[in-house]
Amino acid sequence: MAIERTFSMIKPDATRRNLTGAITKIFEESGLRIIASKRVWMSRREAEGFYAVHKERPFFGELVESMSAGPTIVQVLEGENAISRNREIMGATNPKDAAEGTIRKLHALSIGENSVHGSDAPETAKQEISYWFSETEIVG
Ligand code: CMP
Repeated sequence: MAIERTFSMIKPDATRRNLTGAITKIFEESGLRIIASKRVWMSRREAEGFYAVHKERPFFGELVESMSAGPTIVQVLEGENAISRNREIMGATNPKDAAEGTIRKLHALSIGENSVHGSDAPETAKQEISYWFSETEIVG
């Protein structure tokens, strides 16, 4: 199995409800190691840049609004097959479709306020990590 790195965010809907520790515990108990972490309040411009791939989607405005509405925890997670492992742990984007025991099933409010984000592929993980972190901030 390959040791990988993935990018993760604990979104404003979750930090607002004081769920940072609860969600972090799920990552750690699932075998993912947090090798970088910081709390940021992203600007609209940062949210637009991060989610630029979705800019033509009808929900883009709502997404930028909710991501800049409060603090986010941005993290780098490391572990065996970390990208797909993290996606399993998070559950489906829409909490209505998320499996029992997943973070989104447990904590998400809606598809827009779905508590966590995780990279979907190695190339996006690289891009997303470098959007928020310099090499010296990542301590594996
Ligand atoms: P995330 O994994 O952060 O990637 C893009 C985000 O867009 C997604 O989680 C959802 O929070 C949000 N999103 C996707 N589809 C919709 C939708 N139909 N309505 C509102 N937000 C959405």
